[in-house]
Amino acid sequence: MKLNHVTLFVSNLARSTSFYERLGLETIVYAPPRYARLVFPDMQTTLSVEVVDGPKRGSDGALIYVDCGPKLKEIHGRFERAQVQFVQPPTDMSYLWREAWLRDPDGHEIRLYDAGVNRLDPPWRLRTHERRALTNDLQPASYGSRTSVEIAIWRKARRELLPLFELADDSLMQIAEYIDEGEVLVARPGAPVGHLQLVAGTHEREFEIKSLAVAEDRQRSGIATCLVKAAIERCRDEGARLLSVKTAASSLGALRFYLNCGFRVSGVVRDAFTSASGYSDGLLIDGLPLNDALVLTMGIEATPPNEDAS
Ligand SMILES: CC(C)(COP(=O)(O)OP(=O)(O)OC[C@H]1O[C@@H](n2cnc3c(N)ncnc32)[C@H](O)[C@@H]1OP(=O)(O)O)[C@@H](O)C(=O)NCCC(=O)NCCS
Repeated sequence: MKLNHVTLFVSNLARSTSFYERLGLETIVYAPPRYARLVFPDMQTTLSVEVVDGPKRGSDGALIYVDCGPKLKEIHGRFERAQVQFVQPPTDMSYLWREAWLRDPDGHEIRLYDAGVNRLDPPWRLRTHERRALTNDLQPASYGSRTSVEIAIWRKARRELLPLFELADDSLMQIAEYIDEGEVLVARPGAPVGHLQLVAGTHEREFEIKSLAVAEDRQRSGIATCLVKAAIERCRDEGARLLSVKTAASSLGALRFYLNCGFRVSGVVRDAFTSASGYSDGLLIDGLPLNDALVLTMGIEATPPNEDAS
């Protein structure tokens, strides 16, 4: 058995994560609003921070995790024979660890577990560009906009941007699935007037614009073009070679926008917007039925978007 990590109960996830990053730890799982896991520079020991309501708040509690590896069952049996009371026998958890729970005389929780490769490399481990998003700010820039906006990374709750996400996608079901992925750039000052969500694509060194919208009363003033330029810079920083986006084939305005930015059509997804994925039947976009999606891509070495073309 060896001590693997301690979970500290904290009151503000972003604040605690940044604090430990400043101490040299690297965030490997970031699941706002409640949970993050960081690895020490030895790349072995980890520390978790978790926002918990109720009695365990702030500095009131800690969870001790003990790595038993494949011997978990044997160790659990040995402790039971020694009359140790368990709160939970070895059980498969949703986060792919197998855990047996007990308490010390003061009630501190101890978790004996076997996590295999999922200890340091779970399927949801942050990718490089997502980690960078947690620590680096974009330098404010105008990107030659016809309007004066600044592009910044959004670090507050994503739900505050829901009206913009809803402008870009008619399915709340879909939005709920991806709203917390990747990073979100916003155009401001003041309240965000536009957003662009950048996520890891399906291929290596590919990023995808998952959601993009500009408030209706601020459209056609170059704001989305600024957001796309900022996204391209983010991709370049990360050594990406492809930026992709999917948009409704009937969304003629958006299509014109992406083509104007330099994207090229590279595929079609037929029947991408079904009622099973949360889209109402009979939806029209620009007067045309919403059914197929076009996949557009841009090589990152390509010429930056041309803001003057129309
Ligand atoms: C598509 C969208 C993001 C464009 O944002 P924007 O800030 O208005 O775009 P820009 O001002 O940077 O437009 C640059 C160019 O793209 C083209 N364009 C943008 N919107 C267009 C529209 N509705 N119709 C035709 N062309 C359009 C124009 O060529 C425009 O240049 P111009 O204004 O000099 O003619 C915005 O219309 C929007 O939020 N739509 C609703 C959500 C959406 O469709 N999101 C994309 C789904 S993936």
